[in-house]
Amino acid sequence: MHMSSPSPSCTTVYQQAEIVAHEQIAEATWRIRIDCPDLARAARPGQFAMVRLANQNDPLLARPLAVYDVFGHDQVLDRWQQIPAPADCRDQKFVDFIYAVAGKFTTALTSYRPGDCVSLWGPLGNGFQTPAVNHLVLVAGGIGQTALLMLGRDFLAKVPSGHVTFCWGARHANLFGHAEDFTDHGMQVRLATLDGSKGHRGTVVDLLDNLEKEKAFQINEPPAIACCGPEGMMAAVAKWTASRSIKCQVSLETPMACGIGICFSCVAPVIDKEGNWDYRRTCIEGPIFDSQTIDWDAMI
Ligand SMILES: Cc1cc2nc3c(=O)[nH]c(=O)nc-3n(C[C@H](O)[C@H](O)[C@H](O)COP(=O)(O)OP(=O)(O)OC[C@H]3O[C@@H](n4cnc5c(N)ncnc54)[C@H](O)[C@@H]3O)c2cc1C
Ligand code: FES
Repeated sequence: MHMSSPSPSCTTVYQQAEIVAHEQIAEATWRIRIDCPDLARAARPGQFAMVRLANQNDPLLARPLAVYDVFGHDQVLDRWQQIPAPADCRDQKFVDFIYAVAGKFTTALTSYRPGDCVSLWGPLGNGFQTPAVNHLVLVAGGIGQTALLMLGRDFLAKVPSGHVTFCWGARHANLFGHAEDFTDHGMQVRLATLDGSKGHRGTVVDLLDNLEKEKAFQINEPPAIACCGPEGMMAAVAKWTASRSIKCQVSLETPMACGIGICFSCVAPVIDKEGNWDYRRTCIEGPIFDSQTIDWDAMI
């Protein structure tokens, strides 16, 4: 098994931090805003934090959540939930997470209110690389959009002539929450649902097929893709991009216990340059990987 020393970023901080806003935004989907300036300043697109219920031992282990967005104090005033400005903290920064209710941690978290605290450490993981292209396609399944918003926004800031298409698939319409965050930042949003209740009836791979049919991709200027969602969906996107020689980064959502390289609960099968595969810890060597380096057959 490949080993490298645990290397949480030197900016990683462990702290208790206060919830300042918390609201259900879609079916079984909540958005939470944490007053956490150190994390807000340090987080890059695709990084995550390990989050625990403060002063609780059940569940004992923290859970990884992707940093969805960060806000300076002034920006917060005209975005999701108006927060009154305390006079003495103009430099305060906030971190937003969006989570799907899945098990013990996320179910318990829904009962937490503004003023309650969580424990968290981060930012963790390698984060996305900004691709050197003009067209970035973000592809999310289920709750996978959480890893992608900051990447799209960063890309548009760095490549002013570039454009971003965000393809988002879900089982049905009620699972989409705050899709307007992507349009607000100048990204084109395309939705797909398996039951046809919103957008295209089908999958995100159909949305990619449609973009190709509409000639949205320039032949001599291929797009790059960044993808996050269920493993089967990411495997299908990886196959689609491989057959067209399109670069694709994926953000893996393997279960994690420590987030800093100690426990090996997060390993994924990764293929090296010689074609051999080995288990790699997604918390420190990921969660972002080139989709062609993942052994998808061993993964799913
Ligand atoms: C880098 C990263 C970023 C993430 N970002 C987000 C995010 O932004 N929003 C979000 O909602 N989720 C995110 N996740 C997923 C989230 O961490 C998990 O869903 C988390 O386990 C939920 O905790 P829970 O206690 O509520 O549910 P759990 O009790 O942990 O159960 C969650 C689901 O996973 C299954 N499960 C648990 N452990 C295992 C295992 N070892 N093997 C296979 N299946 C298992 C359970 O059956 C259940 O269906 C992220 C994961 C990673 C790795
Ligand atoms: S979560 Fe512990 S090694 Fe990755």
